[in-house]
Amino acid sequence: MNFLNEVSIDYPSAISFASGRPAEAFFQLESWLGRIDDFLEHRAKKDGVSPATARALLAQYGRTGGMIVDLVADQIRRDERIRCRPEQVMITAGCQEALALCIGTLFRTPRDVLLVRSPTYIGATGIADASGVEIAALSDLAELEDTIAALERAGKRPRALYLIPEFDNPTGTVIPEGERERILRVCASKRIVILEDNPYGMFRFEGEPSRPLFSLDTHGAVIYLGTYSKTLCPALRVGFLVLPPALFGDARAARELHARLSERKSFVTVNTSQIMQALVGGVLLAEGGTLSRVIEPARLLYGKNRDVMLGSLASCLSESRWNVPSGGFFLTVDLPFAFGRREVERCAAEEEVLVMPLSFFALGEGGERSVRLAFSNVATADIPRGIERFARFVQKRLAA
Ligand SMILES: Cc1ncc(COP(=O)(O)O)c(C=O)c1O
Repeated sequence: MNFLNEVSIDYPSAISFASGRPAEAFFQLESWLGRIDDFLEHRAKKDGVSPATARALLAQYGRTGGMIVDLVADQIRRDERIRCRPEQVMITAGCQEALALCIGTLFRTPRDVLLVRSPTYIGATGIADASGVEIAALSDLAELEDTIAALERAGKRPRALYLIPEFDNPTGTVIPEGERERILRVCASKRIVILEDNPYGMFRFEGEPSRPLFSLDTHGAVIYLGTYSKTLCPALRVGFLVLPPALFGDARAARELHARLSERKSFVTVNTSQIMQALVGGVLLAEGGTLSRVIEPARLLYGKNRDVMLGSLASCLSESRWNVPSGGFFLTVDLPFAFGRREVERCAAEEEVLVMPLSFFALGEGGERSVRLAFSNVATADIPRGIERFARFVQKRLAA
């Protein structure tokens, strides 16, 4: 990330397909800030206190687990097919804190191993690494059972599997429902917790929404992780985790896990900013519990950007292959040669276009000949030019 930041500073006028950020044009900060008052009114009524008291308490330290768990539970039921009670929800400082809490709480001995697909989101592997947790990478989920068996033979204990089943970062792919069922069966039989991260699920451009692993789960194996960073904006730093009602069938174990996560959170961030929670809560109240209307303009733009990108790739980059994601922020292009740090710099210097090597997301080997192209934070009009320049770089490299 530092390397890419430096390259983008060195080439400020480059067209960037590297940034997987949401588009700023849809941040309605003024109007969302106004929703804090709506939330306070709701809160005052609910708690039987005066609006002045509700306002004063908002600026106070708050409950560790958060104060909008009921509103979040309601929203994810409507928008993401997640059925849960508010007690199963914990509000966190972005999804990143939810990940950090889960990794810090679930992994207790040096034998415990985190399973991930490789390449994957580096925020997850980064926090595991920083916490001293061993990571085992799967290049394909078909390897799941064999990898578990090999780890067990080596005296290790696979403790959790991290997945982004819907519009994966970095690949943009979706895990089909049948495969989700298989993963659930395998993990449940080994008591491996699944950390299901779903920041992009609401940005589907076509086709039927998938059922999250959490809602397919009958074993109590899945912890669902979410965020308002992509649906509203990242600066809120409001995310959440949802625990199963009974962890592998044990309701007491789920409550104990909640208590351990809460204890850790109380030492890490004390509580998630109540002011930001009030903003999210106020927007949810004003929107009748669903963010589908709020995200619609962004969803339409990202879909349009994806189409423009696919059209440009088809007209300029015939020597390569790419996937066609049905939602999310990213697609990947497989190239006929390796594309790493040096190529990033050259492509920026020679053609003023920035792309992200897939190998940056890989653990060890993998992704050397692929790049991630993000279409969420680039002007639609720049996409054809950017892809043309990228294609020129590819053709020059092939000719050389
Ligand atoms: C897969 C995935 N999980 C989590 C996050 C981080 O979310 P948050 O901003 O809520 O910490 C991102 C951000 O890019 C992401 O791509």
